[in-house]
Amino acid sequence: MTSVPAASPAEAANPHSSWWSDAVIYQVYPRSFADGNGDGMGDLIGVTERLNYLAELGVNAVWLSPFYTSPQADAGYDVADYRDVDPRFGTLDDFDEMLHEAHDLGLKIIVDLVPNHTSDEHEWFKSALIAAPGSIERDRYIFRDGKGENGEEPPNNWQSIFGGPAWTRVEDNGAPGQWYLHLFDTKQPDLNWENPEVRAEMEDVLRFWLDRGVDGFRVDVAHGMVKAEGLPDWSAKVAMVAGNENEEVAGDHFDGESGAEGNAEGNMAPSGENTPPYFDQEGVHDIYRAWHRVLKDYDGDRMMVAEAWVEPMSRIFRYVRDDEMQQAFNFGFLLAGWDASRIHANVVETLNEAAAVNAPATWVLSNHDTVRHSSRYGLSDPTSFPKGIAAGDEQPDEELGLARGRAASLIMFGLPGSAYVYQGDELGLPEHTTLPDELRQDPSFFRTNGAERGRDGCRVPMPWEADADGYGFSVDNPDGGPWLPQPESFARYAADQQVDVAGSTYELYRQSIALRSQLGLGTGSIEWTELNDPDRGILAYRNAKVHVVANLSGEPFRLPAGAGVLVVSEESALSSDGDAETLAPNATVWLTA
Ligand code: GLC
Repeated sequence: MTSVPAASPAEAANPHSSWWSDAVIYQVYPRSFADGNGDGMGDLIGVTERLNYLAELGVNAVWLSPFYTSPQADAGYDVADYRDVDPRFGTLDDFDEMLHEAHDLGLKIIVDLVPNHTSDEHEWFKSALIAAPGSIERDRYIFRDGKGENGEEPPNNWQSIFGGPAWTRVEDNGAPGQWYLHLFDTKQPDLNWENPEVRAEMEDVLRFWLDRGVDGFRVDVAHGMVKAEGLPDWSAKVAMVAGNENEEVAGDHFDGESGAEGNAEGNMAPSGENTPPYFDQEGVHDIYRAWHRVLKDYDGDRMMVAEAWVEPMSRIFRYVRDDEMQQAFNFGFLLAGWDASRIHANVVETLNEAAAVNAPATWVLSNHDTVRHSSRYGLSDPTSFPKGIAAGDEQPDEELGLARGRAASLIMFGLPGSAYVYQGDELGLPEHTTLPDELRQDPSFFRTNGAERGRDGCRVPMPWEADADGYGFSVDNPDGGPWLPQPESFARYAADQQVDVAGSTYELYRQSIALRSQLGLGTGSIEWTELNDPDRGILAYRNAKVHVVANLSGEPFRLPAGAGVLVVSEESALSSDGDAETLAPNATVWLTA
């Protein structure tokens, strides 16, 4: 496990020849992927046991959400020890075993890095609490005296992304004392990135995992970390990851209209004068330049992908300049919803901005922070982006959402760049939209008194076998079910109902991922064809030898005569109308170009 010299300059110079530039990357949410030890929660042994399933699906890499030691106040995005595995998920040996087996199967492994904040149970924070104001221990975090006569008011007016104030007061010498900043939950104190010790420590954490052999990092809240000088007040709350319903977002801070659902722009931290003083500050880029140099000390084309909810798009691509990260998530694609004009605009802008910095594009439809796209697309407004769905809310049309979800996957896999798949997307899994409140665990649900339903509905354990207890999520769990209950509909979506079953969503994914690789679509380039007409709900582009035609309109669409069908999102969507073939609404076809 020693580091070896950097890749040759020729290799390093062309990002388009790197493995990640056209990779299909599968997100494993360890709590909910597969339970190998029967305690109702997923673990690393479970992941190892299911690696074959992922290799057969044809993905190139696996990104794992956090599995580190953590009290799980934010499902592991609250790290107490960056260099160990939480006993719930296994041991470092289990990790090494998983990595080894993944590599044997040709799968790369990307781990999650959470640098903006630690857990309040991290050793550093525990010692900060017992240390005095002004101490070295406190300086690793953002402690400040409060305002008001007795310091009884928070140091500024920032709101937590999860709701409620972003400051919590501690006791000093048995009396109310200083406050510490937490952009997220109280149990997630923000680190002080002005402190060189914090920077050195996180670089060392990078090396710890690089030495073990990981291929990359997904960087959590990559636009956070550096805060504006003096921590100035900021009146708007930025909902980073989960829609804007019930948001008290000052309208003039955002481009889109505010109000219930659908204002995708409201999820992003805007740039310029309206940048929140805690997001997308210029100083974050120095951190990534330093990390870039750390990764360059290792062989094998290691990478970082930024989770940066910023806008406009040009700001996102600043994170992937030559000497910074390799990729950044394209959340605009996810936020476009099922709407041809919005998707078209996103694809055009993404490819332009990517070309401007010579970086490959990325595409993503769902992740562990969003309502699953097959459910969003089944809502009466298929561009809406609710903060979770509860039984009393509008329920999605499951069949319609599934058809659109399948069609969206063919739009995505036809595009050049790298595509991210969230676990269960390949099964067409819907959101759990009727989870009882008493079972919810997401801190955003509690911190908003339930106004935000939270993200539990997309984090429900995977169904592997239709007829087994817990749909086969746990290898053997006689005493209890999975940590979150699965809806009955999951029986229909279970992997054993889909693998090797013609026409299933899994087989659609497998087939299109294989074609994408054979035909070089990931490294290709697109041109919009004569059929493209987003205003009328039709998207059509050519990439290499494939003509992708998606029908997002409400009418059947007549296809050009004589083209062969490579893959279609539903067989039944193609029909002959005299001598012409038509594509039904809510479907996508790949034709021979
Ligand atoms: C990121 C994660 C999210 C987490 C938050 C705080 O947005 O994706 O799940 O709650 O950061 O770490």
